[in-house]
Amino acid sequence: MIIAIDGPAASGKGTLARRVAVHFGLRHLDTGALYRAVARDTLAQGGDLTSASIAAIAAARLDAATLRDPGLRTTGLGEAASVVARHPEVRAVLIEYQRNFARADPGAVIDGRDIGTVICPDADAKLFVTATPEERAHRRFLELKERDSGIEEEAVLADIRSRDDRDRNRAVAPLVQAEDAALLDTTNLAIDAAFRAAIDLIEAAMGRAGRAG
Ligand code: C5P
Repeated sequence: MIIAIDGPAASGKGTLARRVAVHFGLRHLDTGALYRAVARDTLAQGGDLTSASIAAIAAARLDAATLRDPGLRTTGLGEAASVVARHPEVRAVLIEYQRNFARADPGAVIDGRDIGTVICPDADAKLFVTATPEERAHRRFLELKERDSGIEEEAVLADIRSRDDRDRNRAVAPLVQAEDAALLDTTNLAIDAAFRAAIDLIEAAMGRAGRAG
């Protein structure tokens, strides 16, 4: 079973994907970590993020053991990831890793931007998780404030808007809801309510797939 969960930055898709994976006994892959790690490794080698060939080499050499590095979650690496994610050469290198992960038993929940559209177009269930930019910025702000009391919500909102813009308007694999994905707007939902709504939507999608088959 493959469940694809896509959505913009700070929509709650990562938390939902982890909980959905536990619920169904599946493995979980956060594909944002792949792009963040490529950005981290490119910068560590003194490389230019806008150079497709340098970033593609970092993608080819990516060590999967480093994907759980908590240092990947910074705002700076999120921005940097969205720069390397624009290169078709980088995306092409990362496709195989993601598809192999999806195919391995017992199946997987994969979250990202292009999972339902490009990586796993035949997923058994697809969710597109979203929330208003203001609500996403507010959630991210509360998270970041724990570590940095000087952070300003306006600045977080500006970052969210610029990353949305880059992800939605790039030429290759832009962030877009797949035609057959169910929309889950979490703007007014606490995490437990969002989780229950996600399970209902996934079960409905699997029920439809079962009837069609
Ligand atoms: O989800 P996360 O914030 O970790 O993603 C970081 C960046 O990686 C995104 O802004 C996006 O540019 C890129 N990304 C992508 N395709 C994915 C996952 C992430 O382009 N499947």
